Amino acid sequence: MKTVIISNRLPVKIIEENNEYTLIPSEGGLATGLGDVYKSGNSIWIGWPGIEVPDERQEEVTQKLAALNLYPVYLTQNEINLYYEGFSNEVLWPVFHYLVTYAHYEQSYWDCYQSVNDKFAKSAMQVLDRKDKIWIQDYQLLLLPGILREKLPNATIGFFQHIPFPSYEIFRLIPWREELLNGLIGADLIGFHTFDDVRHFISTATRLLPVNSSSNVLNSNERQIVVEAFPMGIDYDKFSGLTATEEVQKEINYFRAGKEDMKVILSIDRLDYSKGILERLKALELLLQHYPEYIGKIELFMIVVPSRDTVPKYSELRDQIDQFVGNLNARYRSMNWIPVNYFYRSFPIEVLSALYATADICLVTPMRDGMNLVSKEYVASRNNNDGVLILSEMAGASKELTDAIIVNPNNLGDIMEAIVTALKMPLAEQKLRMKAMRAIVEKFNVKHWVNNFILRLNEVKDSQKSLLT
Ligand code: UDP
Ligand code: G6P
Repeated sequence: MKTVIISNRLPVKIIEENNEYTLIPSEGGLATGLGDVYKSGNSIWIGWPGIEVPDERQEEVTQKLAALNLYPVYLTQNEINLYYEGFSNEVLWPVFHYLVTYAHYEQSYWDCYQSVNDKFAKSAMQVLDRKDKIWIQDYQLLLLPGILREKLPNATIGFFQHIPFPSYEIFRLIPWREELLNGLIGADLIGFHTFDDVRHFISTATRLLPVNSSSNVLNSNERQIVVEAFPMGIDYDKFSGLTATEEVQKEINYFRAGKEDMKVILSIDRLDYSKGILERLKALELLLQHYPEYIGKIELFMIVVPSRDTVPKYSELRDQIDQFVGNLNARYRSMNWIPVNYFYRSFPIEVLSALYATADICLVTPMRDGMNLVSKEYVASRNNNDGVLILSEMAGASKELTDAIIVNPNNLGDIMEAIVTALKMPLAEQKLRMKAMRAIVEKFNVKHWVNNFILRLNEVKDSQKSLLT
């Protein structure tokens, strides 16, 4: 009996250079969080390898992935455009992050979303054994639980959503709202990062579907569906252990050379309007205006990982960031200092670890974020218990990391003052706060998250069986 994980994106993606295919780790919390743990259990993972693979090369890719227990679902360019960029990232992503004016409700997106969810079901049916547990991940596959339930009425199906679930007033805007909910409730257990997401989902489902709820259980005509919060964690030991390795030490020396007296502020995100990147830059500009004594004394290291840049709102954002950083640096820089060290690329984990381990402040200010693993990775990397985390109250992580300086990301003055507080924070207070956060990140790590979800899924299934007998 194995666990079959199904997500849109596999934990590795293909990059093509000179007609050669290489597999590299995928970015994003789902892939980085689950990417290591699935290897240790009896699991396989079904998903898309990230590019369009022509028919004649699919066998080669399938072989490569099979060696890693990964099973590909190949998407055509049309499916990438309509299902992935279109419905997933121009309808569900903006609406679920409360940016309703960014949504394009195109019928062709919806048609393709349905057919690609079907395609995932067909791939899953090829590898599923009768007793396997099915664990579907995230908003790209909201219909899949329902499709698989029809094919396998007794299957054990869990679903976890890595992004927020919006309030009813927001969700109801989607033209295909009932269909999406009906798909989801094909699962036995539905997990979200926070209690607020659970609350929103239950109230939305009871208003739009013929179901009722008692506490966190939905009762439909046929089945009971349990809805619960499972805040995702990270591999604490990996991040904590990495900083002592030779490779990371080398990166640290390289990075900090000549910056001994500089206060370094770190920001790491995928390119996304939900991450509050522009607002963060504006807060820094405000700080340089209001506290000119920090000019030449602080540097922002801003890493923006390329993401979904074929979606217009993402490429617009990239241009806006380029422009803002260019202006800010041109205005404030001196011969040997610039305020923003901006990187539009991804980095290997050793470099990320060196940055986490040495940055004085980590500035995480999303406008909305399901969880935000970057904030937890920073905490896990602070083996000396120093450093200050500034965290948006709109990130799921703020419910756990209450010893961070919590800010409203829409309030630029608030972010500016938080940076100043962090710059002035006495070491003893830094340590007190960081220790408390490290204890939480260590205990509620990603293994704990996986075990908890699977344990609960088994319990839910067992209790359904006992109801039937
Ligand atoms: N990340 C990465 N490569 C990079 C920068 C970041 O793989 O160059 C990872 C980072 O370590 C983290 C993930 O991307 O695990 C981002 O997850 P998060 O939950 O913060 O946000 P998401 O991208 O899922 O919205
Ligand atoms: C978020 C989503 C994931 C997604 C990741 C990267 O973490 O919750 O489902 O995989 O972003 O986005 P991408 O569109 O590149 O898969």
